[in-house]
Amino acid sequence: MSDKYIIEGGRPLRGEINVSSAKNAVLPIIACCAMIKDMVVLHDCELLSDVENMLGIIKSLGGKYEITGDSIVIDCKGLHFSAVNHELTGALRSSVFILGPLLARFRRAEISYPGGCDIGLRPIDLHLDGLKKLGVIIDEDNEKLRSDGRRLHAGNVTLAFPSVGATENLIMTATLTEGRTVLKNVASEPEIVDLQNFINAMGGNVHGAGTSTITVDGVKRLHGGTYSPIRDRIVAGTYLIAGSMCGGKVTVHGISSDWLTALTEKLRYAGVKITERPESITVESNGSLRMINKIETKPYPGFPTDLQAPITALMSSSIGRGYIIENLFENRFRHVAELIKMGADITVCGRAGTVRGAHLHSAQVRAEDLRGGASLVLAGLKAEGKTEIMGVHHIDRGYYKLEEKISLLGGKIKRVKISCV
Ligand code: UD1
Repeated sequence: MSDKYIIEGGRPLRGEINVSSAKNAVLPIIACCAMIKDMVVLHDCELLSDVENMLGIIKSLGGKYEITGDSIVIDCKGLHFSAVNHELTGALRSSVFILGPLLARFRRAEISYPGGCDIGLRPIDLHLDGLKKLGVIIDEDNEKLRSDGRRLHAGNVTLAFPSVGATENLIMTATLTEGRTVLKNVASEPEIVDLQNFINAMGGNVHGAGTSTITVDGVKRLHGGTYSPIRDRIVAGTYLIAGSMCGGKVTVHGISSDWLTALTEKLRYAGVKITERPESITVESNGSLRMINKIETKPYPGFPTDLQAPITALMSSSIGRGYIIENLFENRFRHVAELIKMGADITVCGRAGTVRGAHLHSAQVRAEDLRGGASLVLAGLKAEGKTEIMGVHHIDRGYYKLEEKISLLGGKIKRVKISCV
């Protein structure tokens, strides 16, 4: 059973919040610790449920960790080779990140196939094709993936598509592989730059992250150290959308405004006043927004697929008609049926959605995935009346203490604990 949120909407949001650490930066960094025999301390690292699951994988392989406040101490000296537990890989799609570090350290890895998830099939063929080009022999059956990296070598890999996860797995594998590996057509998300910065802070030699070509000069070992991962641009974007659609003035601190240009451009078009400073963004609006004409999700620096559901909530309550094209994932419109229960006027055909502005009202809805769940919170904050959102465990995967942050901004939101009897 999962907690639920009760939101009393229709209030403007005002205030300033510090954004928590980026889940999508923290997960590969924790996986990367599997190939470091010294102690690593991650500071300012909030404990989301996905982060706990990744730590669970480290522990299941013999690594240790300790959490003190927002710091996580990870000690993988005693980590040993073994197959990664099927249930753990099932609970976390990002478990695939462990493949590269295990190959780098033990020259072999055995994981269960991460399979599909709530937003689409999410195959890992690009990860595997890249590894094969570096000499890894992969034996796949329906459930298990056995990788033999005894002939692992440096090389050139051009990805067929700039997959975030494949880019990260290949960087980590190449980090402890002698010689120069050149990765082309890679993803350029800020979280990949952060992984590069982490690896280099631990003695690695990775260059080019943030562009479409990354060069990895293999080193013999990484040493331990301390690191603070970057803040979460998607979480920041969600609060900026909240402030824009509810009206008021919201400032998010801790992120570079460059990371959210694709969003702020659209918010400006909608009539939101945006003030950007080097490490913060402020939105100011009266809550009555012009419809964004078109959102099309693309790899960074294009409009992020992870903000598609939140911006759909904003568009649902804007004035006019707009279009959404979801290019990244094939099943990322599950929030639409729930938004419609709240009065939204949206039609979806395959990967395209048409949104006609409507008056949102309160309802009882269910989060079916992480970002879709966030979009329901936004709609609940906008809609007058009491909205009940079930399935909050999905939201907990990526939003740290969301109810506290929203309350800080003056929103009325309550978490109701639902315990098993
Ligand atoms: C990461 C993010 C996720 C975000 C996504 C796209 C993490 C932990 N998660 O996911 O929040 O929504 O980037 O920005 O960082 N694909 C293949 N074969 C592969 C790999 C990917 O076909 O081997 C396809 C996927 O199905 C999808 C597209 O490529 O259609 C993008 O996927 P990818 O960039 O790999 O996303 P993730 O790393 O899974």
